Amino acid sequence: MAGTGVSDSSTLAHRSWPREGLTRVPYWVFEAADVHAAEQQRLFEGPAWSYLCLEAELPNAGDFRTTFVGKLPVVVVRDRGGEVNAFENRCAHRGALIALENRGNVKAFSCVYHAWTYDLKGTLKGVAFKNGVKGEGGMPASFCMADHGPRRLRVATLAGLVFATLAPEAPPLREYLGDEIVARIERVLGGRTPVVLGRFTQSLPNNWKLYVENVKDSYHASILHLFFTTFGLNRLSMRGGIIVDPSGGHHVSFSAIDRAAEKDEEYSSQKLRSEHDSYQLADPTLLEGFEEFPDGVTLQILSVFPGFVLQQIQNVIAVRQILPREVDRTDLHWTYLGFAEDTPVQRAIRHKQSNLVGPAGYISLEDGCVGGFVQRGIATAEGECAVLEMGGSGAESQESRATEASVRGFWKAYRAAMGL
Ligand code: FES
Ligand SMILES: [Fe+2]
Repeated sequence: MAGTGVSDSSTLAHRSWPREGLTRVPYWVFEAADVHAAEQQRLFEGPAWSYLCLEAELPNAGDFRTTFVGKLPVVVVRDRGGEVNAFENRCAHRGALIALENRGNVKAFSCVYHAWTYDLKGTLKGVAFKNGVKGEGGMPASFCMADHGPRRLRVATLAGLVFATLAPEAPPLREYLGDEIVARIERVLGGRTPVVLGRFTQSLPNNWKLYVENVKDSYHASILHLFFTTFGLNRLSMRGGIIVDPSGGHHVSFSAIDRAAEKDEEYSSQKLRSEHDSYQLADPTLLEGFEEFPDGVTLQILSVFPGFVLQQIQNVIAVRQILPREVDRTDLHWTYLGFAEDTPVQRAIRHKQSNLVGPAGYISLEDGCVGGFVQRGIATAEGECAVLEMGGSGAESQESRATEASVRGFWKAYRAAMGL
């Protein structure tokens, strides 16, 4: 890998994907340390664009956020010219984090260890006691500050979302996403001013890819999530569809609430845990939303490869960032959004409906544990495979959501990125 001094060319040479292709996922991909290490090099630091933060989090010059690309620590900061810059959060001296806080505002960054300083573009500007003390010590005359500094990332923004890549060969962000995904992002975020309503970080007891699979898995949503089905928010029999981009890595799943589909035979005949007549909401106003989108779509889950999610569930708009910590540990960062244009009533609805999602959300709480059920279930199954044959063997867009097409799409993009 250029610039890293690390060669990973033979790391995965002994691994081979099952011959069935995308309908099988080998369990070692969720468990093996060599795969986990190679993902950082080939995927997160390869030609993919990773979500960093929202422009709304950096309104002023000097505003910064710290985050990660995979496991690479990153500083994102707005400079005095209004540009958003991102660089590795690693001091050029001996490697300490340059910024320690999650967010803040600075004129410049100063490393806490020996006070080397950096400007808002990540350029090394000062070395403490560079010329020594009383003519003794100090850096050699040959030391040139311009030769030292953290790695810089290429940054691009779209509809208030800040993405970055380390790879010079990555295509421009819009090209990476494709027109269909760009349009679906702009459908939710375009033409208005996002404001952050709140955040959660959720620690997941599973490999990061199990959560990505879960996000893309339209098959499970109305089965695992008792609340979804019971209160008629999402059923596979409602109007909707799946969009998978040509790379396979990005997807959109969408549906529109259809009261006629609420009591359909298809569900009652399946004897699902989620199909229940006996539950009622004590306060049905929880589900009373406002019409926000002219297309009538009440649920749109969108993912960008490798680990970004934009969610519209009723009037709950949120972004999720999926970050690997260890082979079997993942941090999921939720940021809830409203818009400066919201009326007070609309804002109150967003707050109320935000109870639907998040770590303890009525809808999404099961997703926080089901990845752990898989991780525990496959504990000694490195040689076995998951079966993904729902809706065929391809990874193309389709109208039915009774399919695993977008999950297969993820593995298509993953295999391409990893050379597997
Ligand atoms: S490690 Fe940052 S100044 Fe020494
Ligand atoms: Fe789910």
